[in-house]
Amino acid sequence: MIKISDHVHEVGASHPELCYFDRLMPTEHGTTYNSYLIQGGKTVLIDPVEPEKKEILLQNLKDLGITKLDYLICLHTEQDHGGSTPDILAAYPGVQLVSNAKVAEFMENHIHIPRTEFRIMEDGDSLDLGGLKLSFKSIPFSHWPDNTMVYLEEEKKLFSSDLFGSHYAAPDPSQPDFELQIKEAQAYYAEIMMPTRRQTRKHTEWVRELNPDMILPSHGPVWHDPEIILSLYERWTSDAVTPAVVIPYVTMHESTRLMARYLAEKINARGVKADLCDLGLSDKDLRQTAGEALYLSVDAAAIVLAAPTVLTGPHPSMMFFAALMNGMRVKARFLGLIGSYGWGTQIEKSLIALTERLKGEYLPPVLCKGLPRDEDYAALDSYAEEIVAKIKALPPEDILD
Ligand code: FEO
Repeated sequence: MIKISDHVHEVGASHPELCYFDRLMPTEHGTTYNSYLIQGGKTVLIDPVEPEKKEILLQNLKDLGITKLDYLICLHTEQDHGGSTPDILAAYPGVQLVSNAKVAEFMENHIHIPRTEFRIMEDGDSLDLGGLKLSFKSIPFSHWPDNTMVYLEEEKKLFSSDLFGSHYAAPDPSQPDFELQIKEAQAYYAEIMMPTRRQTRKHTEWVRELNPDMILPSHGPVWHDPEIILSLYERWTSDAVTPAVVIPYVTMHESTRLMARYLAEKINARGVKADLCDLGLSDKDLRQTAGEALYLSVDAAAIVLAAPTVLTGPHPSMMFFAALMNGMRVKARFLGLIGSYGWGTQIEKSLIALTERLKGEYLPPVLCKGLPRDEDYAALDSYAEEIVAKIKALPPEDILD
């Protein structure tokens, strides 16, 4: 529990032992399910928590002496927030549920609470707490269609739902490690917000105009200086890219690793940063290695997949990453493919199909049979030259500092 101001407390739950959010996204530093209590003339709770942690929320409310809640505002239905709504209703009978129409619709489907139980707020509507006012703004597709923000006007505090969050359960939530907060915010952006980059950009612009003094997301530490997270989101959601190449790779018999390393070396030698990511590390789960590659891919100009062929198609670990980057719609301008095969391959066809949503220019692959020979290395040299030339030819406004 954290006291944010005389009127606002964070009363949610920390979940430091969580390893994968949604069984997909690695959460090395756990997460938090933030729940905000606002005490004006009326008492309001913004979002409950993941049901597994509901006792923490209920105990925090008890510790603050809360015997009556007037409103429970639900900003988003997903179970990590909406899941314990029935428990709050049971603990605080008479509390009025408040949300936008989309949350009410989804609550009926996902939590089985009739939509008629909700007081529906439109964009721009305000909830008068007696001396304090909360105004509503929908932020569809950051990241579900129902996400909503509320703004405490008198204190210029923006409760931003999933937007601007991070999966980071700091040991002392009032004193997070700043570098870790930034890193986890980028990883969170990559797996939660990147698929809806354009909508998220629009919502970020709206927040920039609003100019809040503090941003209080549903996950991770609050942003006491909103400029930090706003400028990062402006960077990540823009169409511009960093002059960098990410090379996620898998190897079975070392041939593809030799190719990937050689390509990275030749790209680096031409003055463009190339990062290798081994998806097949024996001491890491594929979701972790793929998550790291995705993290690096947030604003990279090019991504080159490096994979051996298994049963005519890409190694399954690469299929997972390709499907992930396709779903997350990475904005890389150029997409490449290299790899080794045993006697025949359909890898190119499979990977093109797996990445069909991506808009980057596809560069025909460099594939070699077995262990690479001099001519294969020469082809990789030319590939490096071509990739670097394309990145350097991008107009200045398309390049991030
Ligand atoms: Fe934090 Fe979309 O739930």
